[in-house]
Amino acid sequence: NDDSTVSITVVGASGDLAKKKIFPALFALYYEDCLPKHFTIFGYARSKMTDSELRNMVSKTLTCRIDKRENCSKKMEEFLKRCFYHSGQYDSEEHFIDLDKKLKQHEGSRVSNRLFYLSIPPNIFLDVVKCASKSASSLNGWTRVIVEKPFGRDSESSAALTRGLKQYLVEDQIFRIDHYLGKELVENLSVLRFSNLVFEPLWSRQYIRNVQLIFSEDFGTEGRGGYFDGYGIIRDIMQNHLLQILALFAMETPISLEAEDIRNEKVKVLRSMKPLQLEDVVIGQYKSHTKGGTTYPGYTDDNTVPKDSVTPTFAAAALFINNARWDGVPFLMKAGKALHTKRAEIRVQFRHVPGNLYKGSFGTDLDRATNELVIRVQPDEAIYLKINNKIPGLGMRLDRSNLNLHYAARYSKEIPDAYERLLLDAIEGERRLFIRSDELDAAWSLFTPLLKELEEKRIAPELYPYGSRGPVGAHYLAAKYNVRWGDLSAEHYKA
Ligand code: BG6
Repeated sequence: NDDSTVSITVVGASGDLAKKKIFPALFALYYEDCLPKHFTIFGYARSKMTDSELRNMVSKTLTCRIDKRENCSKKMEEFLKRCFYHSGQYDSEEHFIDLDKKLKQHEGSRVSNRLFYLSIPPNIFLDVVKCASKSASSLNGWTRVIVEKPFGRDSESSAALTRGLKQYLVEDQIFRIDHYLGKELVENLSVLRFSNLVFEPLWSRQYIRNVQLIFSEDFGTEGRGGYFDGYGIIRDIMQNHLLQILALFAMETPISLEAEDIRNEKVKVLRSMKPLQLEDVVIGQYKSHTKGGTTYPGYTDDNTVPKDSVTPTFAAAALFINNARWDGVPFLMKAGKALHTKRAEIRVQFRHVPGNLYKGSFGTDLDRATNELVIRVQPDEAIYLKINNKIPGLGMRLDRSNLNLHYAARYSKEIPDAYERLLLDAIEGERRLFIRSDELDAAWSLFTPLLKELEEKRIAPELYPYGSRGPVGAHYLAAKYNVRWGDLSAEHYKA
């Protein structure tokens, strides 16, 4: 409204995330007329830069949606005029007092609302939060802080971080981002399930054999080895992105779509799970591989990674939810870097049809003839259901076909980046897609004992070639629970 203004300060403005995601998302919101009428954006970082240098840096990463190109450069210019830069140390209250003065100049007599986006390494989170809350928070409106993972590296450090943040902020001011929750198909999960009669009644151990949550990237830790080595794939992807999807997938029907109702249900799922055991996990690390004359580096070839590192770049795990709905159903997770493909998907494998009349028409591979629902989060978003179908013709032969909702074919709109939705939610005070502290604690409780054991025993990861399908151990893990990974073809299993 006309009497209020929002000031967004991107702390760590010259970092990769700010350049690649935050500024472009803010521009997209501006372009879509989603930002409030009065807003100002400040970049904050240590390096010296003028406003126009910041604008120049930011302008290089802005893009317009393919379907909305008109006025693009005019809108960019308008947007950039509202971006400013303030150089300061992360632990200097004085420098935040200077920032406060600048923000006040822009805000004038309007109600001031302030959003700080911490796009900085975790070791300086608390310094910034302390300075920002003491010296640059709003006196007559709201102050909110968006934090990016890592939220600690185990239960203890995460709890310490939460305690630290709560010295300066109340829970409602803290917006912990998990950008997977901002992805279109992850948000759609609840719509799919709770607004379609054909799915919800099947959503339980009675009809579902197993659920698979798969994340793969076709590149290594290039350039991020230093950060990654202290965390590994379990902390980088599983404990947050995949576990969040699992909780949304498996939760009971919330009382309403209110943030607290949804988050209560998610916490219940996490607390119904048993901490991971070593025997239910397989870890891997990619090694150098030469293909078509090109040599791809191994994980430990990165100069910032110790040569004897046992940090996993791949992991597969079996999890179980001990409640009435999911008792005994394996939830299998798989996450890896430097694999053969880039993909994130949820696969739901249904049980066999009891007393199937058509058993004989499938050959011997009955397992492959069960229904499978695939939610492809990225790339090329899609939801498809594998069904058995008669091959047209005089004989009685069946094959597997897809009932396919392919987003690009069905919706001509470009899908917004996850950061757009999440930034807009933070500005609007919508907390549904952010992680509450009890949720974070519950998530860490599941992984902390395993992570400690892996590290204390220095368990060696199984090596897999860069660009491959990952360690074979993942198949044995799945086989232990009578599961076959749905993302690998039948040929691959024979191989
Ligand atoms: C981040 C991880 O949270 O997610 C990265 O730290 C990973 O390692 C990234 O590459 C993947 O995000 P997206 O949106 O590209 O799938």
